[in-house]
Amino acid sequence: MNGQKRTAIKQALSASSGRENISINGWVRSLRRGKEVSFAALNDGSCFASLQVVINPDLPDYDEVTRAGTGACLAVQGDLVESPASGQRWELLAKAVTIVGGADDSYPLQKKRHSFEFLRSIAHLRPRSNSFGAVFRLRSALSYAVHTFFQQRGFVHVHTPIITANDCEGAGEMFRVTTLDPEAPPRQNGAIDWSQDFFGDRTGLTVSGQLQGELFATAFSDIYTFGPTFRAENSNTSRHASEFWMIEPEIAFADLTDNCQLAEDFMRYLVNYALEHCHEDLDFFDQRIEKGLIDKLKDLAAAEFKTISYTEAIDLLQKSGREFEFPVVWGNDLQSEHERYLTEQVFNGPVFVVDYPKQIKAFYMRLNDDQKTVAAMDLLVPRVGEIIGGSQREERFDVLQARMKAQGIEPESLDWYLDIRRWGSCPHAGFGLGFERLLMYLTGMENIRDVIPFPRTPGHARY
Ligand code: 4AD
Ligand code: MG
Repeated sequence: MNGQKRTAIKQALSASSGRENISINGWVRSLRRGKEVSFAALNDGSCFASLQVVINPDLPDYDEVTRAGTGACLAVQGDLVESPASGQRWELLAKAVTIVGGADDSYPLQKKRHSFEFLRSIAHLRPRSNSFGAVFRLRSALSYAVHTFFQQRGFVHVHTPIITANDCEGAGEMFRVTTLDPEAPPRQNGAIDWSQDFFGDRTGLTVSGQLQGELFATAFSDIYTFGPTFRAENSNTSRHASEFWMIEPEIAFADLTDNCQLAEDFMRYLVNYALEHCHEDLDFFDQRIEKGLIDKLKDLAAAEFKTISYTEAIDLLQKSGREFEFPVVWGNDLQSEHERYLTEQVFNGPVFVVDYPKQIKAFYMRLNDDQKTVAAMDLLVPRVGEIIGGSQREERFDVLQARMKAQGIEPESLDWYLDIRRWGSCPHAGFGLGFERLLMYLTGMENIRDVIPFPRTPGHARY
């Protein structure tokens, strides 16, 4: 536009000296109109801060331009000069201003502060607010950090499928993918005949890329996936989404201890990455979302990650003297209230819980010698609770087959998965990090709906 290269506001604000005739585009955050001079705060999303544009009345279309409302899109040409105002080094002295796209009083983001509930109801506009600008810039930076961490360590990135015939977690939470006519599906002996469906099988959206990831780990040794994951779990909590992103590394020649070590290194790396590369946005979260957030993140990056067994966790919970909503009984899954008590009250920091009872965990986890527990691990962190779930995998053909049968899974339905135990099997392990849980942890945001651009939860899939 204007035949001149656009300067990002981030670049302009970090300039080491003034510059003449630069072009800036952005959206008006606020406009103070005066007879002598007008000021527009322009934001283009490249950084948290807005650039102050000084508009003098000698501009030919002064009147029209200074009536551009909050939310309008402007293109400005001018000189970057030292600002006399405090709190900003540079401002832009406008020489020409064009209204690219106007906005009238009905623009919903007029006020400085809106509730997150309100902003969720205008998910198409909320990226233009301070809070969500910061969240989604951080999300982008951390996505890059995930790849950097694994690529630097020689992990191969695998794109696992989104449509699949297998329910990895076995929890019956798959969304169905079908082209059959819902009014009149083909039937055989009364039951729907899925062999006539598009893929010749009953298929759905993946709940995890792990099983396919394992196949690649037994060829490339160290792999990771990073993709969308879908769960038709009808729970309306602040930590569950029906569509979320998960990072799943899988490492060959590794046991549960190696797995925990990788998870710890990964978490530390991501927290340090955010501290190093996202300080402007983190400052905002620290001031406005969760006081003391930056210190907490620094603490985590320096903290020793503790490890306890599930059995020890049950013991600690039973001895706590607390009244929990869900009973604490060996053999029951840990609930969010239990997890938070452990990480917040007992350890006040990150803690791995390992070796869960086999009946509450998925079929693929390696059976321990006690025959009662499996080599599972969950990483719990304050405020968020479970942020990572993983395990060593069952690499022994017979044991795996028996575990499938015990959990009501037909071994034939996963013959390809069993095949890697048939030929060249090896010990291996992996985990899944919920990307949104990580972002909740890093931003202090309390609702998962506020760290994903367009949240999908029961009853909500607009936009
Ligand atoms: O513990 P989960 O279910 O483990 C798996 O899916 C394994 N296949 C991972 C593996 O070993 N490769 O999920 C892993 C993580 C959880 O710890 C949590 O952070 C996140 O994914 N998660 C969710 N995040 C948002 N909304 C949901 N409904 C989530 N369910 C799990
Ligand atoms: Mg889990």
